[in-house]
Amino acid sequence: MPTNRRALLASLLLILSATHTKSNADELSLEQGKLKAEQICANCHGLEGMSASGGNSALSPILTAQSKPYLVSKLEAYRDGTLQHMQMTFIAQMLSLEDIKSVATWYANIAYRLGSLKAEDEAPAIVQTCIGCHGLDGQPVLSHSAEPMPSLSAQPADYLKFKLKAYRAGRFDHATMTAIAATLSDSQIDHAADWYASIPLALETADQSTDQSVSSPSPSPSPSPSQTDTNIAVEQSVTLPRLKRLQQ
Ligand code: HEC
Ligand code: HEC
Repeated sequence: MPTNRRALLASLLLILSATHTKSNADELSLEQGKLKAEQICANCHGLEGMSASGGNSALSPILTAQSKPYLVSKLEAYRDGTLQHMQMTFIAQMLSLEDIKSVATWYANIAYRLGSLKAEDEAPAIVQTCIGCHGLDGQPVLSHSAEPMPSLSAQPADYLKFKLKAYRAGRFDHATMTAIAATLSDSQIDHAADWYASIPLALETADQSTDQSVSSPSPSPSPSPSQTDTNIAVEQSVTLPRLKRLQQ
């Protein structure tokens, strides 16, 4: 039916133009987020989220590989005081809710990849308790959680130990993690933290992605399923680092 077809066409056009507007808004958010990251966050977390590159504390976590919902939820929790931390509570209170969204858009869109993993039987026994939610590689198993889940891959071991001990002591209160951490001994905490800290995580660089053949001895790419379709560069003015296709 021509009328039906016209209606269909009209609604398709509407969807297309809506998508277009949205992606412009996302790109703006990305630019603004990058600016905030440069001004405020980069000193400790690095502009690309790899804290070791510019961090001033062994306890600054890597933000690369964290999802936007997770970043937003943590920043909002620091901002409203639900999460207390000497530096982050203060910093998050300098941000508007809009800033939180844009800076989370920035960090969530940094393209990265995981290096090859050791075999599962090399993992310390305690890691079996964690993989249902955190995977063997520290990447969130989203089907197991209704709430935003963190990436643990390559986080500084001291940071992971500090977090697990804080849950265990009840200083960070989280229904699941406080209960799990309460069952862990110091050595189990060390083993689990050292395992997840040892997962290789690297920024995806333009060279590696455009020409795999020149990418030298770096760890072989083994992106988790959720990454495979997102590691595509977006054409835009933000040049470095390489970005994923914009996440929602
Ligand atoms: C002075 C150093 C410093 C600066 C600057 C800083 N952070 Fe942090 N950030 C930290 C430390 C240390 C932690 C660990 C806090 C904790 O254990 O609760 C942290 C934790 C976080 C977390 C929680 C990560 C997780 O896995 O739970 C997020 C998200 C975060 N920072 C985002 C940001 C953003 C975005 C900015 C810039 C607007 C920023 N930080 C600026 C030091 C800093
Ligand atoms: C049932 C699911 C589940 C299991 C099992 C689980 N976790 Fe978690 N874990 C979570 C969730 C959800 C969070 C986010 C908590 C929050 O927002 O405070 C989390 C957070 C963490 C964090 C904090 C990360 C950060 O950057 O703040 C660490 C460290 C951690 N888990 C380690 C472990 C270890 C080690 C094990 C195994 C001994 C484990 N978890 C088992 C669900 C789980």
